Amino acid sequence: MLFNKKNISYELDQDNIPGHIAFIMDGNGRWAKKRKMPRTYGHHEGTKTIRKIALEANRLGVKAMTVYAFSTENFKRDINEVNYIFKLPKEFFDLYLKELIENNVQLRYIGHLEMAPKETRDIIEKAISQTSQNTGLILTFAFIYGGRDEIVETTKELCQQCLDGKISVDNINEDYFEKHLMTTDLPPVDLMIRTSGEYRLSNFMLWQLAYAEFVFTDIHWPAFDETELHRCIAIYQGRERRFGGVLK
Ligand code: FPP
Repeated sequence: MLFNKKNISYELDQDNIPGHIAFIMDGNGRWAKKRKMPRTYGHHEGTKTIRKIALEANRLGVKAMTVYAFSTENFKRDINEVNYIFKLPKEFFDLYLKELIENNVQLRYIGHLEMAPKETRDIIEKAISQTSQNTGLILTFAFIYGGRDEIVETTKELCQQCLDGKISVDNINEDYFEKHLMTTDLPPVDLMIRTSGEYRLSNFMLWQLAYAEFVFTDIHWPAFDETELHRCIAIYQGRERRFGGVLK
């Protein structure tokens, strides 16, 4: 029997909601192309999905959600597309900041915001400072972000601490390294969701995803919705996480 997707619901275990979900929001361009629209229209619609999924994740009690909005490699794209993506934070916060504040969402970013145009920087920094006291979902934008770059940056910082005599090489361990990543005090990533049927990490949160569960969906990001989020969380809840140990 055919079901209308909207009528499908997934029973979720409230005691096993992932604390931190990371999203590779893929497929904006393909979604737009299918509709004979420019790629930028896909990015525009993709921002609506960020709002929708952040509000639902917050409602479910997810503590943190990180979205891959612009990678260090995305500069290879056509300049007009890059410029368009840099304008999206203004559009996003103009439309949704008030609502996100009302829902107690805290905003952050990881990445090289200093490489963004001043207007983009200002709008993101303002949204971050306006929500810094909020205690609900932490919504982090990975913006001009690369996982390898993050690890190199952290390594350089710790080398400098050694050279300055603040620490010795023996003080460096996984905990210390992790505390100096851009994600410093975010909870561990439990679930990584990539949309649009691609099965790779594309340089996203390489350290943080070491023990995350991965769920890949064919749905393009602009079409990803609450039901699909529930389905991905239900898959996550069906997994046995062992963190290198053995089955109990
Ligand atoms: C991947 O789809 C998407 C991106 C590289 C950009 C995603 C950005 C947003 C959704 C908006 C960011 C918003 C804010 C507020 C910062 P793709 O273009 O690679 O799609 P394709 O694989 O189908 O070509």
